[in-house]
Amino acid sequence: MSSSTKGVHILIFPFPAQGHILPLLDFTHQLLLRGFKIIILVTPKNVPILDPLISTHPSVEILVFPFPGHPSLPAGVENIKDVGNSGNTPIIAGLSKLRGPILEWFKAQSNPPVAIIYDFFLGWTLDLAQQVGVPGIVFYSSGPLSISIVFDIWKNFEAYKDLGFVEFNGLPKSPRFVREHLPSVFQKFKEGDPDWEIVRNGLIANGRSFGSIFNTFEALDSDYLGFLKKEMGHERVYSIGPINLVGGPGRFGKSNVDANERVFTWLDECPNESVLYVAFGSQKLLTKAQMEALTIGLEKSEVRFILVAKQLTAQQEEQGFGSVPKGFEERVSGRGLVIKGWAPQVEILGHRAVSGFLSHCGWNSVLEAIVAGVLILGWPMEADQFINTWLLVDNMKTSVRVCEGSDSVPDPIELGRKINEAMSNDLFKERAKKMRDEALEAVKIGGGSKKDLDSIVKELGQLRVENSCKWAKHF
Ligand SMILES: *[C@@H]1O[C@H](CO)[C@@H](O)[C@H](O)[C@H]1NC(C)=O
Repeated sequence: MSSSTKGVHILIFPFPAQGHILPLLDFTHQLLLRGFKIIILVTPKNVPILDPLISTHPSVEILVFPFPGHPSLPAGVENIKDVGNSGNTPIIAGLSKLRGPILEWFKAQSNPPVAIIYDFFLGWTLDLAQQVGVPGIVFYSSGPLSISIVFDIWKNFEAYKDLGFVEFNGLPKSPRFVREHLPSVFQKFKEGDPDWEIVRNGLIANGRSFGSIFNTFEALDSDYLGFLKKEMGHERVYSIGPINLVGGPGRFGKSNVDANERVFTWLDECPNESVLYVAFGSQKLLTKAQMEALTIGLEKSEVRFILVAKQLTAQQEEQGFGSVPKGFEERVSGRGLVIKGWAPQVEILGHRAVSGFLSHCGWNSVLEAIVAGVLILGWPMEADQFINTWLLVDNMKTSVRVCEGSDSVPDPIELGRKINEAMSNDLFKERAKKMRDEALEAVKIGGGSKKDLDSIVKELGQLRVENSCKWAKHF
């Protein structure tokens, strides 16, 4: 613990979605380990999410503001998990109404925070930070390539908006995507709509932040980290991932995973590197047709597998979402295991028997797969997932794509063949292990992510001694 950071007061402002909050809390944990005084801003329904962090660090303060709400959100909704990704824009717009109350709160503090670290969906926070005269620093739970693309999209919106296919020639390696595979902000943006303007202006403002923090590491993203440093005109673009491994004691809170759970006794019986893990993140539900194609594909693949399938409500079944077909578990018994509900993903991926991960390629899943050294079989569905898949499959050539699209139904025979081929491809397995080694190297002393974490800590530590007015002038 560095004495120079002792008591330096920082405000953390997360966006209420699981994939956003978890890495930001991992980062907050690192700041706490280094003696910073942390206050976290949430709305009432999101307070319990902080429990594991607070049980490790009782000194954490919580700043609760009532959620201002939004006409298109059902009453009581304050987290994406209650509405799905369509809730992003109204929740962003709703939270932006906290600007006034936060400003008042700042003015009333005798020892106010000297910096605000906020989620990249809350870009309007930068204005607020400038108003109170402290640096605003963005935390990204997406990768540098998708953020480079988002910046480029807003810059060239007029030129791109009617294209069916966009080539990003200003970016390293000129990534290219069909329109449907670009982030939904681009596809759904409505010019002049006040909510969408808040979203766009926030994303653009992120480019002017004092610093940017990414949960990634140099070897994975050097091209786009370099690009962003150039774009932003300074070096304060930090890569500190995989965040749950960097800088000592990993995840806070106790792991409640029981090693004797059915899944681990099952895995213990499997040969090394023989099992494919299949899971599509915390939000996504498969349709009935997709679930049928996937289960037939798994059956045909002749590969050992674990399939995580969510428990559906009667309403979700009515809406056309699918659960595992009747008789499937019996037919694949011995070779396949179905987990209904939550699965200990990190621990499963880390088991010696697991060598593949059929994933939607959300950024957190990508990093978890990399850390475990398993091959990613990508089926991107939405948001930044197509971009992440491009990075891994087309640019790095460390992963394979087995399907794509949120509504696509793969041909089950073809899917089975692709899974079988990927799982017996030793070259790709070797590449996955090399990538894991690079990730582990990055978080060690002397590694890039460890150095960047130290730099942020130093930068933040200096804020106490400097007159905060200096930052007001800085902008
Ligand atoms: C399986 O993997 C474990 C852990 O990596 C290793 O110790 C063991 O020797 C391996 N077994 C075989 C048969 O290769």
